[in-house]
Amino acid sequence: MTPQPTRDDKFSFGLWTVGWQARDLFGEATRPAVAGVEAVHKLSELGAYGITFHDDDLVPPGSTTSERRRILDEFKQALADTGLVVPMVTTNLFGDPIFKDGGFTSNDRSVRRYALRKVMQNMDLAAELGAQIYVFWGGREGSEVDFAKDIRAALDRYREGIDLLAQYSIDKKYGMRFAIEPKPNEPRGDILLPTIGHALAFISQLEHADMVGINPETGHEQMASLNYTHGIAQALWQDKLFHIDLNGQKGPRYDQDLVFGYGDLLQAFSTVDLLENGAPGGGPTYNGDRHFDFKPLRTENMDGVWESALANMELYMTLRERSKEFRADPRVQEALNAAGVAELGRPSLNEGETHEQLLADRGSFEDYDLTPARTKGYGFARIQRLALEHLLGVR
Ligand code: GCO
Ligand code: MN
Ligand code: MN
Repeated sequence: MTPQPTRDDKFSFGLWTVGWQARDLFGEATRPAVAGVEAVHKLSELGAYGITFHDDDLVPPGSTTSERRRILDEFKQALADTGLVVPMVTTNLFGDPIFKDGGFTSNDRSVRRYALRKVMQNMDLAAELGAQIYVFWGGREGSEVDFAKDIRAALDRYREGIDLLAQYSIDKKYGMRFAIEPKPNEPRGDILLPTIGHALAFISQLEHADMVGINPETGHEQMASLNYTHGIAQALWQDKLFHIDLNGQKGPRYDQDLVFGYGDLLQAFSTVDLLENGAPGGGPTYNGDRHFDFKPLRTENMDGVWESALANMELYMTLRERSKEFRADPRVQEALNAAGVAELGRPSLNEGETHEQLLADRGSFEDYDLTPARTKGYGFARIQRLALEHLLGVR
């Protein structure tokens, strides 16, 4: 039996996940709406520690000031009653028809100004609720027609927007950190900042680059046929893994938002191994929230919604446990050593060695015997086999 999730596990869920009514391109909602208060209570019972939301998930667009006040008061009361926290907040810059060509990068300047104001209003709420992370997922920032979008100008406007909002957080002393969420496509034909790599490169151009990191989602990288574990490893390496959206995806197709691990299970195992134990040669682990961004199957009623919410946490905990056993197994340690995994941590140059000295080292080139390196086996197959044994619990 898997252990019960506790607050220390730092599991969090978007209100839009368990609250998804399963309305899709082809059919109507199959489930009732879930109020913020109900989600807070239910997630708390299940053992989560946090709930996150877009402005419009919590306060429906068009609400009057007094309705907004009432919704927020009730939500805050539910948080106080349960002890659930709001570690991250984000903005819906995709639902309203005005955002059909994007928010920060719409060709229409008035839309861009409106988008900035919408974020600022919600940052005030995020600060009030104590959120430390603010996520930017630009699902509508992009195009279908290459000739109709000046990508260079769009990136200028994207940067202008993030720079302004970072300054806003600084001036208001909100102390927030921003996390950009990449996605290759859907809803736009092509979305700006499509992958972890694009987002990291963009961040390097920002005025307050230090307070901006990324929020990579498992399925989004996999939609682009990329290796999620490698992506988050690079983000950790650059100290940019500020937040994470865990879920499942079966290869390159539409964004499935399955339960975490219900796609590439083996990669989910290496993801958890990295987050929990750090790189095999050492290095930072991830200490932010374990945030799930999934969509409960459209076939399910509310029982299935809560069951699949629990399934995310359970599978994460199972993989965490298995990863600890994997790392502690002497056979694994031996196999990792034999495969040179630790040796990769050793600099290729001697301390202080210059390129002149490297050129003078005949043993590294002129007299280097190529045969051993050409003929040896690295033993990675054994490591993969041991990983599978631990994953399946069959040793
Ligand atoms: C998606 C995205 C969103 C974002 C959310 C928070 O593909 O729909 O993953 O779910 O995570 O908008 O920014
Ligand atoms: Mn997604
Ligand atoms: Mn997401």
